[in-house]
Amino acid sequence: MKEKISIGIIGYGTVGSNTAVILQEKNKIFASHTGIEFQLKKVCDNDWSRKREWMPPAAMRTSNYNDILNDPEIDIVVELIGKFQPAYNIIKKSLMQKKAVVTANKFLLSKKLTELLTLANTSSSYLGFEASVAGAIPVIKVLRESFVGNRINSIIGILNGTTNYILSSMSEKHQTFGDALKSAQKLGYAESNPSLDISGRDSAQKLAIISTYAFQRAISEDNFLIEGIEKIEIRDIEFARELGYRVKLLAIAKRTDDMVSLRVHPALIPVNHMLSDVEGVYNAVYLEGDLFGKTLMYGEGAGGKAASSAVIADIIEIGRKLFLKSHLSERFIINPRVNLQPADRIETRYYLRFTAIDRPRVLASIADILGKNRISIASVMQKEENPERAVPIVMLTHTAIEKNVRDAISAIDKLSYIRQPTQIIRVEG
Ligand code: HSE
Repeated sequence: MKEKISIGIIGYGTVGSNTAVILQEKNKIFASHTGIEFQLKKVCDNDWSRKREWMPPAAMRTSNYNDILNDPEIDIVVELIGKFQPAYNIIKKSLMQKKAVVTANKFLLSKKLTELLTLANTSSSYLGFEASVAGAIPVIKVLRESFVGNRINSIIGILNGTTNYILSSMSEKHQTFGDALKSAQKLGYAESNPSLDISGRDSAQKLAIISTYAFQRAISEDNFLIEGIEKIEIRDIEFARELGYRVKLLAIAKRTDDMVSLRVHPALIPVNHMLSDVEGVYNAVYLEGDLFGKTLMYGEGAGGKAASSAVIADIIEIGRKLFLKSHLSERFIINPRVNLQPADRIETRYYLRFTAIDRPRVLASIADILGKNRISIASVMQKEENPERAVPIVMLTHTAIEKNVRDAISAIDKLSYIRQPTQIIRVEG
């Protein structure tokens, strides 16, 4: 029976220092809940000059992560450096030495999750990665434990706090994209390189992690269609509102038989859809499974405290397993039958905004090209503007195939009276 668990943190930024503070402040509460004393033993960072929420005493500090990896008393290594190396080697070495690992490293896990879970299993250790996706929302725990008996058929997530904050601010406060991004950065939501958020890649990495785990197949962000929110204009948000929709950056994984389709893109969702009320920095994950049916989890998706909540959850989970002397490792078996659907076979509905000169036969020619590509129009809206200038024509289609839509739009955009590339936004729900 292990009554004292020693922890080493590698990477002492916002999440690291929040985690250290919680471990000190809630030490007695954790001990009374679990019977275990969780002791922060060492903290590693290569720059101790930065100001932190809490500065560990000199005896606890190091700039050499091997001081943590080679310390036989340390049971749990918390990796919070991010990026690929040296995090990858640190995690592998820790697992091989039978130290449990807790990490928030979405970039690394979106490439190496299957390998690291397999290594954790063969070394009888454990990899906790709740903090890598959706901030404080316990989606990995739910898949690992609560829904373990299910076949997951659908995952739809709002997985990036920064872009959700930007889209909400554009929609509700009529802020420009640039101003909304600046406030998200000030509030500490955005990545140090915010183009990761805006381009959809941060969401794609998180979806890759959840899907790898849910579908038991190595899935990386390179495997799927990714579009960011750069192209969304306030006028699209307003047209969508008139049509009864909101615009959100969605991360979608859908399974049919043994085929999984994965994509991240802005989408129109109906105002009565459960995800449409997720505003600001909040994230949400909607899941469908064969036994539980449908469920929605909602919570803070970015910020130091939310991520530390998930790090602490993994630490306590591992502590409990060690306390009970139960097997730490879990079996992670890859399902060889799960295939990925090519992006051009996606089937969904579309919002199309054409910018055209207001002349006879314009609408007829657009409709003709759509029809020839087997795209059926569900509704049309044309705004009466200055007749000398190009006007927006907004259409919603019935379900169509991605390739057909791309072929049709490429033909339409070549027509002489089309004045700007057509805006394409997929519709979900
Ligand atoms: N930049 C990320 C976001 C932080 O905005 O969601 C959490 O991973």
